[in-house]
Amino acid sequence: MYRANCAACHNASGSGGALSQGRAAPTLWNATATQLVEAMRTGPGQMPVFGPDTLSRSEADNIAAYALTLSNREGRGGFDLGAIGPVPEGFVAWVALTTVLFGVMRWITRRPKPANSDDDRGKR
Ligand code: HEC
Repeated sequence: MYRANCAACHNASGSGGALSQGRAAPTLWNATATQLVEAMRTGPGQMPVFGPDTLSRSEADNIAAYALTLSNREGRGGFDLGAIGPVPEGFVAWVALTTVLFGVMRWITRRPKPANSDDDRGKR
């Protein structure tokens, strides 16, 4: 339910995200259960209203309960890169791995140095 209704703007991790025309959806990590349901029912600013016809009371409660768990980012998968979302995190990982790979490529294709540059054997 969270993914279908909220994640598009507030991110899968609840970190918030940019919207069109310079607007942004705030992070949900600091919101209380009351604020979460209130926001769904009133639709502040750019946020759509999720009235009782769209989300029943128990559905709204379930989404709020789930959203509350998002602030607990223990990062079972290791370093979470600020939980900025799967796409930017994947991009960071991609750039890091490409950099390492490039370094390894340079290392294995390096030219051997002359044995001793003070040595005049090469200067014939
Ligand atoms: C179309 C994008 C959009 C969707 C979908 C959306 N929101 Fe929002 N939400 C916003 C924007 C934008 C704000 C900031 C509104 C403002 O104050 O101007 C906001 C604000 C909030 C806030 C207030 C945060 C705070 O601490 O100030 C909460 C809580 C919230 N949303 C929860 C939800 C939940 C839960 C859902 C899913 C049912 C949801 N939102 C779906 C765009 C969205």
